[in-house]
Amino acid sequence: MEDTTKDLLSQAQAVINLAASQEDLENIRIGFLGRNGKMNELMAGLLHVSPAQRGELGRVLNQAKREIELLLSKKEEDLLSASSNLYFDPTEPSIKPNLGHLHLITYAAREIMDIFERIGFVRVRHPEIDSDYYAFEALNMPAGHPARDEWETFYIADNLVITPHTSNGQVREMEKGYLPIKMINIARCGRRQSDVSHSQTFHQFEGLYIDKGVSIANLKGVLEYFARNFYGSGRQTRLRPYDFRFTEPSFEVDVTCGLCGGSGCSFCKGGWLELGGAGMVHPKVLRAGGIDPRKYSGFAFGWGVERTYMMKAELSIPDIRILYKNDLNFLEQF
Ligand code: DAH
Repeated sequence: MEDTTKDLLSQAQAVINLAASQEDLENIRIGFLGRNGKMNELMAGLLHVSPAQRGELGRVLNQAKREIELLLSKKEEDLLSASSNLYFDPTEPSIKPNLGHLHLITYAAREIMDIFERIGFVRVRHPEIDSDYYAFEALNMPAGHPARDEWETFYIADNLVITPHTSNGQVREMEKGYLPIKMINIARCGRRQSDVSHSQTFHQFEGLYIDKGVSIANLKGVLEYFARNFYGSGRQTRLRPYDFRFTEPSFEVDVTCGLCGGSGCSFCKGGWLELGGAGMVHPKVLRAGGIDPRKYSGFAFGWGVERTYMMKAELSIPDIRILYKNDLNFLEQF
């Protein structure tokens, strides 16, 4: 009878191992431990053994019964935890990922580009680290020329600069050899400067239009078009004479202040805000790019993306450097 009990136990072990559901387990329980189950059958057999053996056999049987109970409850737990891992409810609301957004400067660059694309300008890219030649020399600023000082340039090798402006793209674009040119070069620039309106890292967009018969009137028209589309229909522009080595004549471009509407306030200079430089491309620059100034003329302008964007009336950003601080309190407003 002891052997039969052992057989019963290993039988129970085998089927419990194979059980795949709670229902299987319940059937096994009934088969082994139920009223008419195998265990009770064996118990009934005790009546036929001698009273001397009965006690010992009874203990063996009870032990086997407890083991089967244990095996059953262990398997039950296993099945439960396996099924909870598989639980998948496709209708359950998902955990929302934290969505970020593009940086303000990227939005600004895209908005600026959209406006120029509508009148046929094409976005191009030129190096943000470039040789002294494209940043200065080809722009009519030979080595040692005092005009270079204005650009507060980071030299990273004898002949290599972090471009202090996007004008390095002018001669590079001309060298491609296609005419007419109608480009906007947007790039990161660097200068040794830092205060509320200057940051060491900033962006510029450079426009260059070269064709036969391009005049100041065309420049003025494009600037006005840009100002109206970017700032709103009420804004006006003006050209102030200035001096750049790579344009002749050269101008500073101003836009009427969006806060006071041009009458003058603490935000502007007598009703005008300064956008940046522009001018008619200097014949020497055209020649450096392999273009004959007797046949072709062109205008160029180069402005700070940050500055241009901050001049929108609805933005009041007190310090340009906040754009680079990764301050979420600031960035999340946009
Ligand atoms: N590169 C000049 C600067 O960074 C701005 C500029 C002036 C660009 C005149 C031009 C231009 O294209 O024609 O201050």
